[in-house]
Amino acid sequence: MINKIPVIIDCDPGHDDAIALLLAFASERLDVKGVTIVGGNQTLEKTLNNALKVLSFADINVPVAKGADKPLMRELIIAPEVHGDSGLDGPCLPESHLKPCDLSAVEFIAKIVKESEEKITLIPTGALTNIAQFLICYPELKNKIERISLMGGACFGGNWTPAAEFNILVDPEAADIVFKSGIPITMSGLDVTHRALIYKEDIERIRAIGGKVAVMVAELLDFFSKFHGQMGFEGSPLHDPCAVAWVIDPTILKTKKLHVDIETKGEHTLGCTVVDYYDVLKKEKNVEVAFDIDRERFVDMLVQAMNNYK
Ligand code: BDR
Ligand code: CA
Repeated sequence: MINKIPVIIDCDPGHDDAIALLLAFASERLDVKGVTIVGGNQTLEKTLNNALKVLSFADINVPVAKGADKPLMRELIIAPEVHGDSGLDGPCLPESHLKPCDLSAVEFIAKIVKESEEKITLIPTGALTNIAQFLICYPELKNKIERISLMGGACFGGNWTPAAEFNILVDPEAADIVFKSGIPITMSGLDVTHRALIYKEDIERIRAIGGKVAVMVAELLDFFSKFHGQMGFEGSPLHDPCAVAWVIDPTILKTKKLHVDIETKGEHTLGCTVVDYYDVLKKEKNVEVAFDIDRERFVDMLVQAMNNYK
């Protein structure tokens, strides 16, 4: 029997966060110890409520801990253009019967990490505020983190400014702490997530699975596609599930180990992940940067995951 990989998912649902959660919980490879929530795609109250609703709808009972409602040093930026007023517009989900746990996100991560005999993998799919706060408050636990597989950043071009990807732009100071932490990092940035496209026929394949979870995911994707269609994408980039997919099966992404710094001051470049693609600086290569994905296998992985909820 293969040992399961213990993970904590830190997210801001968010359509693609919700699908990332469902992918993780359906996987036989992962042991999801809990979910921590950060403000980002919408306010913290909304992202928390969305996570609870999705998990409850899929009959997943797991600790959910509330995290930071704003970045370390800045005001929160939200993304209603992409995710709607609720942060999860599209499907009509019943209120959740789950409640958040009493611990904060940082306390929850610390507790799980302390109690675990194995190292824990963190999968952040929103701004890195909770993860940075955990590293600030519990530096002695850093060595018990196996790896951080995150969605954020880009080597070539941003989506929220010309230079910055949304998650990193929301909290660049937190990202700076995480990227400098020395913990192994896999970065699924826009270079790869813009190749992790879900087309109309893929959505129909998921809807055709039937069952409430697959139909809900198809409805999430219907809404998500509208925004990306207007932006000129031929499909919808499923950003956050890439970070989960890599932990389930690292062969699904093509990565390159590179040095990455975070821009925390630039006038035009705030929140940019400055990737030393040509190794100009000869600095320590701190990040596995993902550049490509086996899209067909990725879609099959999602379809198989949604099948498991039937
Ligand atoms: C990231 O921003 C959010 O809107 C998505 O959930 C994803 O995590 C993509 O830039
Ligand atoms: Ca997200």
